[in-house]
Amino acid sequence: MSIRIAGTGSYVPEKILTNADLEKMVETNDEWIRTRTGIEERHIASDEQATSDLAYAASVKALEMANLSGNDLDAIIVGTITPDYVFPSTGCVLQDRLGATGAFCFDLEAACSGLLYSLEVAYSLMKTHPKRYRHVLVVGAEKLSSITDWTNRNTCVLFGDGAGAVLLENNDNSDSDCVIGSDLHTDGGFGDILKMPAGGSRMPASKESIESHSHFIHMEGKEVFKLAVNAMVSAGKTVLDEAGITPDEVKLVIPHQANSRIILAVAPRLGVPEERVFININHYGNTSAASIGICLDEAVRSGRIDKGDYVLLTAFGGGLTWGAMLLKF
Ligand code: UT7
Repeated sequence: MSIRIAGTGSYVPEKILTNADLEKMVETNDEWIRTRTGIEERHIASDEQATSDLAYAASVKALEMANLSGNDLDAIIVGTITPDYVFPSTGCVLQDRLGATGAFCFDLEAACSGLLYSLEVAYSLMKTHPKRYRHVLVVGAEKLSSITDWTNRNTCVLFGDGAGAVLLENNDNSDSDCVIGSDLHTDGGFGDILKMPAGGSRMPASKESIESHSHFIHMEGKEVFKLAVNAMVSAGKTVLDEAGITPDEVKLVIPHQANSRIILAVAPRLGVPEERVFININHYGNTSAASIGICLDEAVRSGRIDKGDYVLLTAFGGGLTWGAMLLKF
């Protein structure tokens, strides 16, 4: 048996927040945001929408592409840092919405690397118990607008909401797997440079935690930037070297969409020209765990990925967490 990607799906909320809109909210300007980040607009969920609603919309599309329904699923993994609740997990909420009564479900928290980590776990489960886990749904979904400090120009221009889903299937008729290799890392020693300080057991909600804006994303951007480039290049090279695949053989690199300058610094260092790197940060901003899934779905649906193509995913995020994964379609 081998594992293939049977479906992909993505969803972003209707409401668009442009750079011009942000100019009215904080002291910033379109030129700064575009040149420093590549972002022109981002999608923002409505007050009624929670992360599971975005995940649900993306999941339905992935199931439709695969010609499957919720009750075909054996497991659901949701990568997110913005769960609907501390508990139950967003995976549990999503299971109920999808009618996936036979699936065991959980959330995986690895910030912007959430989709990569979740794919690794899903793939490993399916390899270990191929009969038990025939269909596993992996979703990266975030309502980052709910943890964004809309008074802080350093961070509020960066983030957006959305979801991307990947449906993995154990397939009797093929002998080649979709995951060719991966290289995932963590360095908890740098946890403080990108974090949400309050809301967990270390700093439960209080008058002080709210007044100090501690329930929002805090980021030391410059420090994160430097580490992100080196980490994604190193992991990407390791995966290609171990697989014996040259950069020329890679059809598309799909990097986490945190900053177009990071993406454009990573690509040449990996030996891949810009035209083979997927970028949609201009429309969505940084959607954390959702970003790679949204890109993958757009690349599949727009015909930028064909059967047999090698696609390299790279991610970097809070934790710190990072890594790369080589897929074959
Ligand atoms: O997804 C997880 C991983 N996240 C990342 O990888 C993000 C990594 N970091 C970055 O993408 C970039 O560091 C940022 C986009 C966050 C910031 O860009 P930067 O080139 O590192 O700018 P900076 O923070 O050093 O700020 C430069 C200047 C500062 O002014 P002074 O001190 O030079 O006068 C800031 O106050 O730009 C100012 N600034 C802004 N100006 C207008 C910061 N934010 C804004 C803004 N509008 N929104």
